[in-house]
Amino acid sequence: MQSDQQEYRIFLADEAATEALGGQLAKAVVGAGHGGTLFLKGNLGMGKTTLSRGVMRGLGHEGAVKSPTYTLVEPYEHLHPAAYHFDLYRLGDPEELEYMGIRDYFEGGNVCLIEWPERGQGVLPQADLVISLEREGKGRSARLMPGTKNGESLLAMLQDAGNNRSDAVSGQDKRG
Ligand SMILES: Nc1ncnc2c1ncn2[C@@H]1O[C@H](COP(=O)(O)OP(=O)(O)OP(=O)(O)O)[C@@H](O)[C@H]1O
Ligand SMILES: [Mg+2]
Repeated sequence: MQSDQQEYRIFLADEAATEALGGQLAKAVVGAGHGGTLFLKGNLGMGKTTLSRGVMRGLGHEGAVKSPTYTLVEPYEHLHPAAYHFDLYRLGDPEELEYMGIRDYFEGGNVCLIEWPERGQGVLPQADLVISLEREGKGRSARLMPGTKNGESLLAMLQDAGNNRSDAVSGQDKRG
């Protein structure tokens, strides 16, 4: 079911800002305590992996965050909550996700970040938050839309954090 809470837009001036948004998301997920499924949408090179790196670092990961493009999923099971980074760009058929037992990943309060979720349509669960990244000038604009009650809580926590941030623009705009 689609939430009718307002979406939230934020301008990300550079790579560091994208990572910082990931860090805020990690904080919100830990605070809400239910894990979360985040869809990361946007064209090639729009910052989906950068945002994922910010989330993993925010959850306490200290090593590299590489793109899981060839393996479909990169696990971060040492984190609390455990996190999984999917990149479905090279997924042939959504059914492949069934074979890899995808449903198990979404249980138990895990954090699941999914790049190119469009390719898993029909098999992936409802996202708590859909985050769309697009180019804006030299930076990016991020649009965050909740899909569940958990997503609404995460968004509310982000907005609270954003009240202290000069570059945060809360969204009145429902285009696209
Ligand atoms: N807010 C930003 N402003 C400008 N450049 C950014 C911003 N965020 C990330 N970048 C840059 O965009 C480039 C691509 O980032 P990234 O690999 O995260 O994209 P992606 O969306 O995961 O791409 P793909 O679809 O190929 O997986 C990187 O060079 C990164 O530094
Ligand atoms: Mg990527």
